[in-house]
Amino acid sequence: MRAVPVLLALILLTACGQRMTEQPNRRAFETDERLPDRRVNQPPPDGSVARDELAAEQALATRPRMTAALLARGRERFEINCAPCHARTGEGDGMIVQRGFPHPPSYFEQRLVDAPDRHFLDVMTNGYGAMYSYAARVAPADRWAILAYIRALQLSRRVAAADLPNDLRAKLEGSP
Ligand code: HEC
Repeated sequence: MRAVPVLLALILLTACGQRMTEQPNRRAFETDERLPDRRVNQPPPDGSVARDELAAEQALATRPRMTAALLARGRERFEINCAPCHARTGEGDGMIVQRGFPHPPSYFEQRLVDAPDRHFLDVMTNGYGAMYSYAARVAPADRWAILAYIRALQLSRRVAAADLPNDLRAKLEGSP
């Protein structure tokens, strides 16, 4: 007699005509009479805060102090994420470009030397023309580190010999 409930359950279960792939639920942007304003996409309750976005915004709004550690981190992240196209020199003729990807501008163009920090952060965050966004690959703090390294690259092309520390200048001028 123990088989009766099992049989009953089997009959009931197979009689259920609904398939998992076809459910009476609603998709985004559809309407539903039972919901306020008939909107399936309900606005978040008042006072809701998108935590991750705020943290990212804050990190992007705060300029970190320039340190050797920041530069080293920036160089590492730059060489991983940007150099394949922009080249380790910043000239824009990286390996992917040599294989046919559009040529990015050189970081040494006067327009980019003069461009504010915000422009570089925006390009990394949102992408620019043929270049896609790096928001998902490079954390906000690392975007600052990369920018610091790009600034160092730019400076390396136009520093006057007189501005070098004595030992480096001596090296440059070939004296012992
Ligand atoms: C897959 C190749 C590729 C990679 C990787 C790449 N870029 Fe670019 N980048 C481009 C191209 C192509 C352009 C030119 C886009 C255009 O003008 O349509 C560009 C343009 C730029 C510009 C100039 C925008 C302007 O005002 O003209 C900056 C700054 C820049 N990239 C920064 C970066 C940084 C920083 C990284 C690494 C986080 C990076 N890019 C990674 C391809 C790349």
